Amino acid sequence: MDKTIDDIQAEALAALESAETAEEVGRLSVRYLGRKGLVTQYLRNISSLPENERPDAGKKANQTKKILEQAIKSAEKRIAAQQKTELVGGVDVTLPGRPAPRGHMHPITQITRRICDIFVRMGFDIVEGPEVESDYYNFEALNIPKNHPARDMQDTFYIAENIVLRTHTSPLQVRMMEQYPPPLRVVAPGKVYRCDSDLTHTPMFHQIEGLLVDEEVSFGDLKGVLTEFVQKVFDPDTSIRFRPSFFPFTEPSAEVDIQCVMCRGRGCKVCSHTGWLEVLGCGMVHPALFENVGYDTRRYCGFAFGMGIERIAMLKYGINDIRLFFESDDRFLRQF
Ligand code: DAH
Repeated sequence: MDKTIDDIQAEALAALESAETAEEVGRLSVRYLGRKGLVTQYLRNISSLPENERPDAGKKANQTKKILEQAIKSAEKRIAAQQKTELVGGVDVTLPGRPAPRGHMHPITQITRRICDIFVRMGFDIVEGPEVESDYYNFEALNIPKNHPARDMQDTFYIAENIVLRTHTSPLQVRMMEQYPPPLRVVAPGKVYRCDSDLTHTPMFHQIEGLLVDEEVSFGDLKGVLTEFVQKVFDPDTSIRFRPSFFPFTEPSAEVDIQCVMCRGRGCKVCSHTGWLEVLGCGMVHPALFENVGYDTRRYCGFAFGMGIERIAMLKYGINDIRLFFESDDRFLRQF
């Protein structure tokens, strides 16, 4: 007899737990606790048991009744909650929304725009050119001779015999001068490619080129423009120096160093204890370029400069591995 009421209870609880609709729960309620329900009948039959068994059996059956009443209530609650959740295709529209993570511009894009802004304020236009470039624009027209080491297959990605992935943005100097008469004031940001890969080099990186052509342009103008640029992109009190250098497309040529942003010139690992960091190349446009594009070399002169954008970003933000820019690791990118 004991086993039977236990069986009824177990069977009822299992059925209630798997019930999926309010109607199902209603039917189960009638089946077990209704007037002709199994528990009710059981209770009624207790009077026919031997007298000594009656108290225990009654107690047990009443307990089962209470347990099942509870189970029915909670099944009803569970189903009601489920129905609410399922209002809109399984989505509980009453819960607060999960905000979609918001992206932002890549740090290289941000710094490129910042650099462009600085030059735009000084009257420069922004121009762009092809990344797949001819040997002529990438080398020849820039006065880079056939035997120049920069033309080596080791450094340059060749697409065909006379077609390369541009190794710098300097071809824009020639393209712009070919297309427009002087005076000219342009900056050209973009991707460049070199067969190189380590902590500070990636096969693709970004440069920005500058070119100004006019009458009576002096090296002093170049110094003024680049000093303004450096002080705008880094700190206003950053010292800057021009070191004599060589580029085939400028004469005279210089490299620009800024006071080390890490140690403020005192000397540290980043600046190899020199107190200075190289940031760009520049110079007065070589007359050979003017001749290549048909500019009057007696009337016009100009200056040019070129820099690596990643390098500027690395110095500005104290980043020591260039590859971080291109790994798309959200933990890195989020910081900008
Ligand atoms: N094109 C040079 C490079 O990739 C950088 C450069 C140097 C550009 C001097 C210039 C310049 O316009 O005048 O290393």
